[in-house]
Amino acid sequence: MFTVDVNLGDRSYPIFIGDGLLNDVELVLPYLGVGRVVIITNDLVAPLYLDQVKQLFAARQVEEIILPDGEAHKNLATISHIYDVLLRGKFDRNTTLVALGGGVVGDITGFAAATYLRGINFIQIPTTLLAQVDSSVGGKTGVNHELGKNLIGAFYQPRCVIADTRVLSTLPEREVKAGLAEVLKYGLVYDAVFFSWLSENCEAICRSDPALLSQAIKTCCEIKAAIVAEDEKEAGIRALLNLGHTFGHAIETASGYGNWLHGETVAMGIVMAADLSWRLGWIDQSTVQHIRAVLEKSYGLPVIPPENISVEQYLDLMLSDKKAEMGNIRFVLLRAIGEAVVEGGIDKNLLAATLTAGDQLCIQGE
Ligand code: NAD
Ligand code: GLY
Repeated sequence: MFTVDVNLGDRSYPIFIGDGLLNDVELVLPYLGVGRVVIITNDLVAPLYLDQVKQLFAARQVEEIILPDGEAHKNLATISHIYDVLLRGKFDRNTTLVALGGGVVGDITGFAAATYLRGINFIQIPTTLLAQVDSSVGGKTGVNHELGKNLIGAFYQPRCVIADTRVLSTLPEREVKAGLAEVLKYGLVYDAVFFSWLSENCEAICRSDPALLSQAIKTCCEIKAAIVAEDEKEAGIRALLNLGHTFGHAIETASGYGNWLHGETVAMGIVMAADLSWRLGWIDQSTVQHIRAVLEKSYGLPVIPPENISVEQYLDLMLSDKKAEMGNIRFVLLRAIGEAVVEGGIDKNLLAATLTAGDQLCIQGE
């Protein structure tokens, strides 16, 4: 087992990463409140892991809330349903909420925990690769609005994160790849050596080789823990973790939540950000072509955005991005592999060229 600590003073917490951790009853005990435990999961994950996780919390009275699966349910109606169940059941401030699932369940549960009775204990048990490397760590919680992704939420840290890599064996290949988009993001933003390692070991990682995948999860959690410790509320450096997300969130919202996987739209957005960085003259063509090739060819990710989103629609949606300031859309762009910056005031013609490049992204400039 690896342990990565997120250092946030008296709100510090460990991320446990390892094979078979969901059998380790002792592991969770220090992070439980004195009250009841409510496991929040969905109707796809529950038949796979709910019974096992109930055993993990058998030291307390355990109840469950099973949500319908899918990004389309990551909204305030679901939060309201959770409040109804908790209030009707007279769950008090000693309650611990446990998120058992991917990023959707994790973000919803964290937001419910942040707001129920002004904040109760919660634990993350991420069961997708994306959730193990990204969404379960760092305390971003929340839901979507029909006008934009993740626009309603709170920063609220879990007491611990338990990433059992064994659960990834039931994850469909498409979901593994979507998680790998976020893994590649860490390399592009912070760590050129990690990006090279990912590109050299792509075959084994795409096969979910347990040793390499665990190593990748650990590296991502170490990078994220360091960033969150420095900039918990995204006043600066943390924004760089949004590489590809300004474009990606617009695609996700315009396409209808759930039609593309979050990680897939991040992959498209990363290639769009690389393309724009190249058009700005910040990185050369061989570098952007390499970035596209690693995502598209080595990792089999979709990188060409849907054709039916107009420039106007992109601009409108991206103005709702949380990084936008006073009508200025700000993008995470690349100065090099492993070096990202946040930049606003982008030339409209260059931006339009990226938004309309389609399958020519990173290939054909002006
Ligand atoms: P998800 O939660 O929808 O999970 C993907 C699918 O896999 C779902 O159908 C889920 O039920 C299923 N699943 C989960 N675990 C499984 C398992 N072990 N075996 C089989 N199937 C399993 O999607 P995701 O990719 O995990 O997360 C995406 C969400 O995370 C988005 O809403 C995104 O906005 C959010 N996110 C949040 C942060 C953050 O910092 N809070 C960071 C990145 C992404
Ligand atoms: N996923 C980006 C962040 O947590 O900041």
